[in-house]
Amino acid sequence: MSKTNAKDSGFTLTDNQTGKTWEFEGHTGSMKNRLIDIRSLYSTTGILTYDPGFTSTAACKSDITYIDGQKGILLHRGYPIEDLAEHSDYMEVCYLLLYGNLPSPEQKASFDMEIRHHTWLHEQLARFYQGFMRSAHPMAIMVGVVGALSAFYHDSTDINDPEQRQLAAHRIIAKMPNIGACAYKYSLGRPFPTPINSHTYSENLLQMMFSHTSEEYKVNPILAKAVDRLLILHADHEQNASTSTVRLAGSSGANPYACIASGIASLWGPAHGGANEAVLNMLDEIGSIANVKKYIAKAQDKEDPFRLMGFGHRVYKNYDPRAKVMQKSCHEVLSTLGIDDPRLELAMRLEEIALSDDYFLEKKLFPNVDFYSGIVMKALGFPTSMFTVMFAIGRSVGWIAHWKEMLGDGEQKIGRPRQFYTGHAKRKYTPVGSRGHTPNKVSWSWLWRGNKKNAKPKDGNQKPALAEKG
Ligand SMILES: CC(C)(COP(=O)(O)OP(=O)(O)OC[C@H]1O[C@@H](n2cnc3c(N)ncnc32)[C@H](O)[C@@H]1OP(=O)(O)O)[C@@H](O)C(=O)NCCC(=O)NCCS
Repeated sequence: MSKTNAKDSGFTLTDNQTGKTWEFEGHTGSMKNRLIDIRSLYSTTGILTYDPGFTSTAACKSDITYIDGQKGILLHRGYPIEDLAEHSDYMEVCYLLLYGNLPSPEQKASFDMEIRHHTWLHEQLARFYQGFMRSAHPMAIMVGVVGALSAFYHDSTDINDPEQRQLAAHRIIAKMPNIGACAYKYSLGRPFPTPINSHTYSENLLQMMFSHTSEEYKVNPILAKAVDRLLILHADHEQNASTSTVRLAGSSGANPYACIASGIASLWGPAHGGANEAVLNMLDEIGSIANVKKYIAKAQDKEDPFRLMGFGHRVYKNYDPRAKVMQKSCHEVLSTLGIDDPRLELAMRLEEIALSDDYFLEKKLFPNVDFYSGIVMKALGFPTSMFTVMFAIGRSVGWIAHWKEMLGDGEQKIGRPRQFYTGHAKRKYTPVGSRGHTPNKVSWSWLWRGNKKNAKPKDGNQKPALAEKG
């Protein structure tokens, strides 16, 4: 364990079957956070821990981000997210996450310059897009194109070379807005954009998304500021599903572009980065304030797969601090643009009712960052399908910072969880001709499909739900 983690008095584990006891080291981290070091548990006891979804497992140590979910605190390298969102800019936050401290003016200028000079895409990479359907979801294109970067930038795939690692990190941060903007332009059948080096990161993002080749595009600084804040709020969130995916992919020594592509794939799901898109779809489905109570009841019904999107969080059992900043930003953007979006009023009413409802209070389900980010992005002009792409652009620095940290951590090993085997004991093989009809035990139901509580496979000859849908 690192020097900032002090070894403490430790823990004693007792096997109630045999009365045998074992001692395990304890550690106290820099925020008085404690853990039991169970790395030797299996080798000394032959027993595994069971922790689906890693609710109680720290898979690594990290200096990057601290979250106190009970108190609603989020710090990047010690700095509160509220301060960064208010006073910093995205490039500065990228530097902070990658290098550990806020940059001096010279460091900031040189980092800015470096990123601005890696925004172009290889001409041949641009042709890669032509293989996609125009109707493809932009996240599908993101997964493919970012993964394909490893086929174009061979000078930055050697993970044993620190300079190549840094070059890959800078390239990924620099190219993500361009890759995302090309995915959008491709869906419209418009020419691919050209990055402009005199623009800031967020100005360039807006310009690449919304400019037309034949017209001058003037960036609205207020909108560029809103985009910048959005990127800051999404920059990192410690060991979430996509970041853990990047770490797991990287633990095998895979190249950085492939690792980031795996993070994008994981982010796409509606329980993670896809939630912002799902929130807007949900608000459209609810339609009007008159229907809010009906949908609040649906969200509580165990037989109904509906969930209140943008509500709840694995770690936050309090208001997500990012959601507070996002809510403020949402009001600012709508009033600057003079937009009267009824979805904002609907969202606020939904929040108000949910926050006074016993179900949500007992389960500590508060709005998360995605609850308001969709409305902000809609107001900024992004189509719903681009919401998760914006999340991916902002999060790319967090992924790469964790990937970098993991590679430099001598205690990391290839990620390889174990399992609690509950299947058949050893049995004898029967040739196909001698077999009777066997029950199909495979269920395709997902965690929210059908009965939320009992989405377990039924024995018998049921057809898989997906096959039923054709
Ligand atoms: C984020 C999320 C995946 C966290 O999941 P988790 O930590 O595994 O928590 P669970 O899914 O076990 O939820 C705990 C309980 O709250 C309920 N719950 C959680 N989120 C809920 C929501 N948005 N609406 C209704 N009920 C919800 C669950 O049904 C569960 O109830 P139970 O204990 O009676 O079974 C979950 O809250 C969710 O699906 N939210 C909506 C999607 C979303 O906004 N994702 C973005 C996250 S930033």
